[in-house]
Amino acid sequence: MTNEKKLEPMSDLHFKGMMWLYKLAYPIWNPRRHIKKIPLKEGMVVVDYGCGPGRYTIPAAKIVGPQGKVFAVDIHPLAIKVVKEKAARESLTNIEAILLDSYHTGIQGLSVDLILLIDTFHAISDHQALFREMHRLLKQDGMVFMDAEHIKMPRVREIVEATGIFTIVECLGKDMLIAPKVKQ
Ligand SMILES: C[S@@+](CC[C@H](N)C(=O)[O-])C[C@H]1O[C@@H](n2cnc3c(N)ncnc32)[C@H](O)[C@@H]1O
Repeated sequence: MTNEKKLEPMSDLHFKGMMWLYKLAYPIWNPRRHIKKIPLKEGMVVVDYGCGPGRYTIPAAKIVGPQGKVFAVDIHPLAIKVVKEKAARESLTNIEAILLDSYHTGIQGLSVDLILLIDTFHAISDHQALFREMHRLLKQDGMVFMDAEHIKMPRVREIVEATGIFTIVECLGKDMLIAPKVKQ
């Protein structure tokens, strides 16, 4: 039993505005270009943490293919609805969308190859809780691909290092690959 407060999603209006902005920004901020930098491989188990409207969930599910799986997790009910609709439209059966109200995803521990944390880190209020959950989920050789959108890279580095349970593997522009420290 925990006394954790339920996480509050943004308003529906805000979420719809965000989807609209993503559409507008598509020519300059195109996930298809960005996804080439992400070490996704066929057969991987992936968590798209803070999946939003699934900009990365859908292409990731196509790359990991039917032998792999993408868990799309978010605290906003509209994110889950939109991702399910897009997956059905694209006949993708390897996506599981999960609505969260805390940092516990309910996904089996030590089962995940890659976690995507894209344009989401700035929205996280409890960094320790997030990193603990990501550490629990990842296989020993798993990794997190995250970015420093709306937050300065030195600050992101500082937060990751302060967790004590992740190491920075690589930083490329606004993107960062981090790995869990050895699990006891
Ligand atoms: C700016 S959107 C990014 C969506 C997606 N990653 C992308 O780049 O298209 C941030 C998303 O993170 C979700 N979010 C915020 N805090 C969260 C949390 N603690 N756990 C899961 N999702 C969260 C929001 O509901 C929102 O859908």
